[in-house]
Amino acid sequence: PDADRETVLLAADAAGLARAAALIRDGGRVAFPTETVYGLGADAGNGDAVAGIYAAKGRPSFNPLIVHVADLAAARRLCEVPRAAEEVAAAFWPGPLTLVLPLRGGAPVSRLVTAGLDTLAIRVPAHPLAQALLRAAGVPVAAPSANPSGRISPTRAAHVMDGLGGRIDAVLDGGPCGVGVESTILSLAGDRPRLLREGGLPAEALEAMLGPLDRTPDAGSAPSAPGQLVSHYAPRGRVRLGVTAPEPGETLLGFGSAAGAAINLSEAGDLHEAAARLFDALHALDAMGAERIAVSPIPETGLGRAINDRLRRAAAPRD
Ligand code: TXA
Ligand code: MG
Repeated sequence: PDADRETVLLAADAAGLARAAALIRDGGRVAFPTETVYGLGADAGNGDAVAGIYAAKGRPSFNPLIVHVADLAAARRLCEVPRAAEEVAAAFWPGPLTLVLPLRGGAPVSRLVTAGLDTLAIRVPAHPLAQALLRAAGVPVAAPSANPSGRISPTRAAHVMDGLGGRIDAVLDGGPCGVGVESTILSLAGDRPRLLREGGLPAEALEAMLGPLDRTPDAGSAPSAPGQLVSHYAPRGRVRLGVTAPEPGETLLGFGSAAGAAINLSEAGDLHEAAARLFDALHALDAMGAERIAVSPIPETGLGRAINDRLRRAAAPRD
């Protein structure tokens, strides 16, 4: 549906940035790089533009979006920022961290962005192109990851073109994303800090500042971070985790010293390198037509927690 437009690939220069910013101000949908993954951006105050994001992704409209702003001052115009959030923001913004905070009454954010919640997920990305685009656009930018709903997140402009070409106005090409997994989501809107999604900022860094985080999963069928839906981030092939000896017919996604890997996330066993390569590797396994994917064990520390979280979702049973 809605695959009727020409998607322009914009270079990361002054002309490309100006065009991307103008498209966003005019209600368009523009994919842009952040240090985590590419986002599909639109003016958060423009309900039609935000509806265009949901349509392009095929995303259920109960799943709210993250709003991107250039700095903490811009965040204060949209959200209440309690003391703990000020401290966390001072330490980790700009960066791969999203905060869920109480939405300010009258904030210029479409109800579609929050899917009717009274909280807002907000992020100040560090990527220089994202920063330049947010400053040039001059509006808060709602942006989910720039992939069709339920598919693998994009870490390169070509991934965005493959998934959403013909459905969005433009892709600003900033090369590969440095972090490679989505932002960590921390809610500071309730009584206790709550970790809603493991991501590019290791939870250990937050716990060092805030103490132990509440990680209770959502009860019932309406998760407060529906990116937590079980089957998500899925490649086309079936995925088996923690494999030290792949079976015949399995394609091995290796880590560390694994022998016989089709792709190795990091031969050095470096979790930062592995995170940066993860989604590119899953896209490549799709392109290779891998039907059964085995994955080497990956340590459950630092960025390994976000990597394993995405891989567990990739391995989850689906319809
Ligand atoms: O790194 C990232 O976070 C990327 C880049 C583009 O910023 N964005 C991203 O967006 O991953 P998305 O839409 O794929 O994931 C956003 C997650 C979803 O799980 C959504 O449910 C959750 O944020 N979310 C959004 N608003 C929320 C809110 N008010 N309360 C709780 N969760 C929320
Ligand atoms: Mg996503």
